[in-house]
Amino acid sequence: MIITVFSPKGGVGKTTLTLALAKVLSEDKKVCAVEVDFSPGDFVSLLDLEKEKNIVNACLGDYKACLQRPTGEKFDVIVGGFPDMQENLKYSDMEELIDSLSGEYDYVLIDLQPQISEVSVPPLLKADKVLFVLEDDISAVSRTVGILEYLKLHGFLDTSRACAVVNKAKGKKKYITAVDLGIPVIYDIPYIRKLNEYKNKKMIKHAKNLKDALFEVKKEKSLLRRLLNGFKRVKQKDK
Ligand SMILES: Nc1ncnc2c1ncn2[C@@H]1O[C@H](COP(=O)(O)OP(=O)(O)O)[C@@H](O)[C@H]1O
Ligand SMILES: [Mg+2]
Repeated sequence: MIITVFSPKGGVGKTTLTLALAKVLSEDKKVCAVEVDFSPGDFVSLLDLEKEKNIVNACLGDYKACLQRPTGEKFDVIVGGFPDMQENLKYSDMEELIDSLSGEYDYVLIDLQPQISEVSVPPLLKADKVLFVLEDDISAVSRTVGILEYLKLHGFLDTSRACAVVNKAKGKKKYITAVDLGIPVIYDIPYIRKLNEYKNKKMIKHAKNLKDALFEVKKEKSLLRRLLNGFKRVKQKDK
């Protein structure tokens, strides 16, 4: 399964969520996280990896030689490239890499850069799920509305495979609720104070919930919760 994490805006949490999801999914499945980002991306510095084993070399040469495993993790990654490298790649190069990886891994997670270019279209079109990450601010919401319209118009996105997650949520939502994204918002992740890394306990807990929401796992309410709800109803009737 291919899951592409995307946003037309930087800094919303794409990389954090991609890596947190990779950590959660790799508990019992084979996972590869790919950074399709030429800005140049953050995997190299965040995970302390080699920058030569990057997406460009993976596309143009033997991708297996570009797989790296972050210390202490059970998932593999391919790190992003540099701005001048993007021109060396064609649509078909990226398409072939994604096909090869999805043949080998249970989950291929793609952390996709905000800019749309020839090489960022295959991650959108090949994905089983495209997860849009946005914050509830005017810029993130309006850019998401705009890019969804653009992607649909050009046939770069099958919206039936797309959904959204609100990250860094604080209190009542203001902007997202005012527009119709045309794709479901499946989960809200709160703003986590002093979040220093994707492995943060709270972030991992939310990534687990996000995974369940992505796969539409309905949570069975606990027995205690059901009993308490029943108790509340009885009390209301008594009033
Ligand atoms: N839920 C959250 N609460 C607080 N900070 C967050 C949250 N999610 C991400 N961040 C922080 O926001 C910053 C940008 O996140 P990042 O994943 O690099 O975004 P992107 O990949 O979209 O540019 C990072 O400093 C990250 O730690
Ligand atoms: Mg990023």
